[in-house]
Amino acid sequence: MKAYPSYQKNKNAEKVLLIGVRLPGYARKEAEESLEELEQLAITAGAAVQGALSQEIHRIDPAYFVGSGKVEEIAAKAKELKCVTVLFDEDLSPSQNRNLEEAIKIKVVDRTGLILDIFAQRAKSREGKLQVELAQDLYLQSRLVGQWGHLSRQTGGIGTRGPGETQLEVDRRLVKDKITRIKRELQRVASAREIHRSRRSEVPIPTVSLVGYTNSGKSTLMNALTQAGVLMEDKLFATLDPTVRRLKLPSGREVLLSDTVGFIRKLPHALVESFKATFEEIQGADLLIHLMDISHPSRQLQKTKVLEVLKDLKLDQKAILEVYNKIDLMGYGLELNKNDIGVSALRQEGLDKLLHKLDQLLSKGFKSLTLKIPHQEGGLLSFLHRYGRILKKEYQDDGVFMEVEVFQKFVKGLAKFKVKKQKGDPKISLCA
Ligand code: GTP
Repeated sequence: MKAYPSYQKNKNAEKVLLIGVRLPGYARKEAEESLEELEQLAITAGAAVQGALSQEIHRIDPAYFVGSGKVEEIAAKAKELKCVTVLFDEDLSPSQNRNLEEAIKIKVVDRTGLILDIFAQRAKSREGKLQVELAQDLYLQSRLVGQWGHLSRQTGGIGTRGPGETQLEVDRRLVKDKITRIKRELQRVASAREIHRSRRSEVPIPTVSLVGYTNSGKSTLMNALTQAGVLMEDKLFATLDPTVRRLKLPSGREVLLSDTVGFIRKLPHALVESFKATFEEIQGADLLIHLMDISHPSRQLQKTKVLEVLKDLKLDQKAILEVYNKIDLMGYGLELNKNDIGVSALRQEGLDKLLHKLDQLLSKGFKSLTLKIPHQEGGLLSFLHRYGRILKKEYQDDGVFMEVEVFQKFVKGLAKFKVKKQKGDPKISLCA
């Protein structure tokens, strides 16, 4: 049995009681892991978990989700532990939510409400905020009927933050109009992002996207690899807005590395919908790094969940490099095979092997070309110096002769400058 209350730095944190439910057909282990994750989510939302109750149910009670006996037990436990909120590890219907609040006399928030709250707190960019607003409104749309009115509006806390809270009392039509407006606005922002992305795709270097279950260490790795200064916290969803940084590989080749939102089991559908644009960032990637927390007891399940999300996003056909993180917690790679990549992003260990592996995998995408660039093509020359790997170079009367390695996407644009390799290569100099 777990010891509560769980650690929470903030002394004034909202006290919560967790309710886990094992539904028919679910393994005990899965229910336990889900409850554990709910605890992590609660801590991430800034709550102090005082205790947890779980129950195996054979039939979902239409009025309360759990049986009425359990409702009494929850009410008593919440009172005993002085909790102000009950967090349910399942999605409740609006009427179940309302009935539970009436019976328990404190606020009840379900899993989706909790996840949306976290996203509401963490969204930073305009796009991120709009995405959360959209997700909250989509969620609210179905549960507008006097939510929390009977509790005379609890004072803030989980489930009440973010742009959604002012919408609690407006009618469906207004929310619907708002959803349409946000979608339009999101489209505008997304097309601005698309411009960024297409500008980026003009940069002739490959893109690598970090994906992985939430808290697997993506931001830490990104930071370790690029000194990007990405926000890192031991909380779920520290990253909402994708960040892109340049990274130099041992061969001297450069790649763009992007960090993405963490994946999670039971990701609310509204969120997947509204975060599509963010996930689209991964679409353009040439390679995905799937980062896994090797120290996590349910790492296998987490891996499966990530692969499921990738499949949903039709990204499972992409080249994926699996990387195990947090090996420092495992006595250094005890469970790894010779070819597995294990790192400790935190301690910056194993990064060399990872970088070399990236080099090896991406090298297939680079092509060596022999070119003669006329002197007046100054722009192209500096472009090749900036983004190509110059293997040989010689200044000649009618242009610069060079052997250069470029990323395959850009080979076509250089076709007209292609020449045959020179025999003997008398005055060729090697460049860095
Ligand atoms: P989301 O933004 O939620 O998707 O999380 P993330 O995958 O970006 O994880 P993040 O980098 O924020 O790391 C989560 C926690 O794991 C932080 O407390 C890190 O310090 C810790 N962590 C990351 N890498 C390692 C590691 O190699 N070893 C150990 N011991 N902890 C690590």
